[in-house]
Amino acid sequence: MTNKRAGWASNIGFILAAAGSAIGLGNIWKFPGKVGEYGGGTFVLVYLCMVVCIGFSCLLAEITLGRYAQKNTVGAFRLIHKRWAFAGKLGVLSAFIILSYYSVVGGWVLKYIFTYLTGADFGGDTTAYFTGFIASAVQPIVWHCIFMALTVCIVLRGVSAGLEKMSKLLMPVLFLLLIAITIRAVTLSGAQEGLAFLFTVDVSRINADLIITALGQAFFSLSIGLGIMITYGSYVSAQDSLPKSVSSILLLDTFIALLSGVAIVCAVFATDKSLIGSGGGGFAFISLPNVFAQMPAGNFFGGLFFLLLFFAALTSSMSLLEGLVAFVSEEYGLSRTKATLLLAGSMAVLGCGYSLSQGAVALTLPWFDIANGLQFLPMANVMELATDNLIMPLGALFTCIFIGWVWKPDHAIAEIRRGGSSKFAFAPVWAFLIRYVCPLAIASILFAGFVMGKALS
Ligand code: PHE
Repeated sequence: MTNKRAGWASNIGFILAAAGSAIGLGNIWKFPGKVGEYGGGTFVLVYLCMVVCIGFSCLLAEITLGRYAQKNTVGAFRLIHKRWAFAGKLGVLSAFIILSYYSVVGGWVLKYIFTYLTGADFGGDTTAYFTGFIASAVQPIVWHCIFMALTVCIVLRGVSAGLEKMSKLLMPVLFLLLIAITIRAVTLSGAQEGLAFLFTVDVSRINADLIITALGQAFFSLSIGLGIMITYGSYVSAQDSLPKSVSSILLLDTFIALLSGVAIVCAVFATDKSLIGSGGGGFAFISLPNVFAQMPAGNFFGGLFFLLLFFAALTSSMSLLEGLVAFVSEEYGLSRTKATLLLAGSMAVLGCGYSLSQGAVALTLPWFDIANGLQFLPMANVMELATDNLIMPLGALFTCIFIGWVWKPDHAIAEIRRGGSSKFAFAPVWAFLIRYVCPLAIASILFAGFVMGKALS
C-alpha cells in the first residue's frame, strides 16, 4: 500500500477520540453500579490500582503496536509474525459481537431520551416500563437501527473529519453535562452519606471476587483487548509522546468514572438508599428514573443524564466500527463505504437477535462453565458472556504475550522513544509488567469466567 494513511489531525484530537472510546456505558452506569455492589471506597481503591498498574501497561502496548505497524489490528500482528494474525482476529470478533449489542443498548438510551423529552411518563412503574419495552419485538429494534445508522454516518466521514471532529465536540459537552448532574447530586440533602460510602475503604472486604471484578471493569472501560486501540494508535503521528497521551486517556476515563460514581451514588443515597447494590443491566433504566423522579427538577436532570449516556455510547460505538472497517477495508481491499455498510448491516441483524431474545422470542444458545455446566441461555446473555468472559480476555492475553515475548519490549520501547518525543524512564518497569504481571492478571479473569462462571463486564 502506497496511499497516504489516514491520521488524526492533532494530538489532542487523538486523545479525545481514544478517551471517547474508553468513556462509554461502562463508566457511567456499570462503574457506579459495581461501586455500590462491592462496598464503595474499597472497590474504588482496587479499581484505581488496576487501572494504574495493568490498564496503563496494556493500553500503552496496544497503541505502540498500532503506531509502529501503521495497520489495522490483524495487519499489525501479521506484520511482525505471520502466525499471530489470529490474535488480531479474536479482537475483531469480539468488537463485532460487542457493537451488535452495544448498539441495542444505545437504542434503549435513545428511547429514554425520547421519553424524557415527551414528558417523562413511565406509567408509574419503571420496572414494568423497561421490561415491557425491551421485550417488545419491534420498538427496540427500530431504536437500535437508528443508533447504528448514526454510528455509520460518523464513520463514513473518516478518521479526522468524522471520529476526531465528533469527539472534539461531544467530549467537552459530556464533561459539562456530567459536572451539572454531579453538582445537582452532591447538593441534595443526604448526599454526604453517599460521599462517605464512596471514600471509605475497608481493606478487610478485599477478596478475589472484588479484585477480578475491578480488573474486568478496568479492561472493558479502557477498551483493551479488541484491537481498537491498535487501530487508533495506527493513526497517531510519530511526533506524539505515547506515554503522555496514554496517561491523559487514562486520567480522563478514570475521572469520568469517578465523577459518575459520585453523581449516581449521592443521588441514590439522597433518594432511595435501598437501591445501592442493585447494579446490573436494569440499574440505569429502572432505578435511576425513580431516583430522578424524586429530586427537584428531576425530569430535566434525568433527560440530561440519558443525553450524556448517549454521547458516551456513540463515541465508543464509532471506535468499535472504525476498528472493524479498518480491518475489512485494508485486508480485503473493500472501499471504506462498502466495508462500513456491510459491517453495520450484519451487526444490525445480529443485534436483532440480542434484542429479540430479551423476551419477544425464545432464542437460546449453549454456554458452558464449570460452576454451572452446560446451559442454554438467552442469546443476549451468551453474546455478553462470550465476549466479556472469553474472547475479549483471550485477545488481551495474546496481545500481552505477543508484545512481551514475540515482538519483545525492546522493539516496543524503541517505538515509544522514536522521534525523541519521550524519554520513557519507566521502560524497565513497563517491560516487566507486560511480560509477567499483565498476562497473569488476564489469565485470572479467564479462569474466573470459566471456573466460577462469573460475569465480568
Ligand atoms: N470502553 C467502553 C465503555 O466503557 C466500551 C468499549 C469496549 C468500547 C471496547 C470499545 C471497545 O463503555
